[in-house]
Amino acid sequence: MSNHSATQHILVTGGAGFIGSHVIRRLVTRYPGYRIVNLDALTYAGNPDNIRDIEDKPNYTFVKGDINDAAHVSSILREYDINGIIHLAAESHVDRSIADPLAFVRTNVLGTGTLLECCRQYWKETSKAIRFYHVSTDEVYGELGDTGYFTEETAYDPRSPYSASKAGSDHLVRAYYSTYGCPTLVSNCSNNYGPNQFPEKLIPLMIRNIKEGLPLPVYGEGTNIRDWLYVEDHAEAIDTIYHKGEVGQTYNIGGDKELKNIDLVRTLCKLMDDKMGRLLGSSEELIRFVKDRAGHDHRYAIDFSKLKNELGWTPATDFKTGLSKTIDWYLSHQDWVARIADGSYKEYYEKQYGTGQ
Ligand code: NAD
Ligand code: DAU
Repeated sequence: MSNHSATQHILVTGGAGFIGSHVIRRLVTRYPGYRIVNLDALTYAGNPDNIRDIEDKPNYTFVKGDINDAAHVSSILREYDINGIIHLAAESHVDRSIADPLAFVRTNVLGTGTLLECCRQYWKETSKAIRFYHVSTDEVYGELGDTGYFTEETAYDPRSPYSASKAGSDHLVRAYYSTYGCPTLVSNCSNNYGPNQFPEKLIPLMIRNIKEGLPLPVYGEGTNIRDWLYVEDHAEAIDTIYHKGEVGQTYNIGGDKELKNIDLVRTLCKLMDDKMGRLLGSSEELIRFVKDRAGHDHRYAIDFSKLKNELGWTPATDFKTGLSKTIDWYLSHQDWVARIADGSYKEYYEKQYGTGQ
């Protein structure tokens, strides 16, 4: 096991998004001696409010920019003497990838390729190699039946434009290790939930709709299964893998909490009815079974024993506690939700779910 803990100048990409903001907060507060640079294009999913609380910290810098802009990326590597990258910037929502696949190829495949190429050139010109950690998804492995788990040896079988573009980026990262010897690492994680998640994803969308008394759109029969991990536990895993992971290796990350979508939505209804003091009826009455997602993967489940045995990470937050904290965060940050719901979200929502939702 390597231990990469010398003073670090880390470029985090996508740090104004959901997971990236938790990673940034963790690194900035835990490692005051590091320099943390956040490169984010602030797409619809990037939100400076997600990192407002740490924006004035002396070891933190925000740079607005696109990972596809090679000249800008190269100048950042030089200006901040970057020696590590944690790459999270991506288009991340499966439904949007079905509507606009090329946007996913551009950011996830070409963007990752551009970052890698900038690192390779920088290494050639300065003899300084950059540790390149690529944050990826379990969706690259495709779907499971009712049994079995994804391991690091499971063959890739992506089935949506999103997962195909992430698979492409994973392959590129590994190719830079085998071909050029770039010090790369990859992790593949299951579904995250927690504060600051954009309300296009299942849990925050349902929380918002339950709060507003809007219909709860469950795809198909609600029998698809996802494995849920609290976002701060993912941030801890990323911290662990960045510092202790072996270059050239891949690590699976999971929450050990499989749930059918319909059971998750019913749990959310119950918890929120209690928290909001609903006296009559149940929010479950708002559930609507709607047209299924095209190519909807049946089940994801992760075997993360490699990460546990080799680097000592396990998820710390049990699901009930994490879900309760998540609901409380959304209920106490209605201004955050309202600012999003007022913008292009409305248009997206109507296209995806139709009016009257
Ligand atoms: P997100 O959509 O919330 O955030 C993505 C961030 O990337 C945003 O801040 C956006 O502005 C930025 N971005 C997008 N395109 C960019 C570009 N061209 N240049 C610079 N910045 C750009 O995503 P998330 O859910 O936080 O996911 C982060 C990463 O983790 C992604 O790579 C995703 O594939 C992976 N992942 C997510 C999950 C999950 O459950 N959300 C699980 C496993 C892996
Ligand atoms: O597995 C990791 C992946 O998890 C990440 O790589 C992705 O970035 C992240 O978006 C997530 O992908 P999913 O497609 O699993 O997440 P989503 O929240 O979109 O959907 C979760 C499940 O809920 C899925 O089976 C589809 C279903 N669903 C989703 C929405 C938005 C519904 O039934 N209704 C909905 O309105």
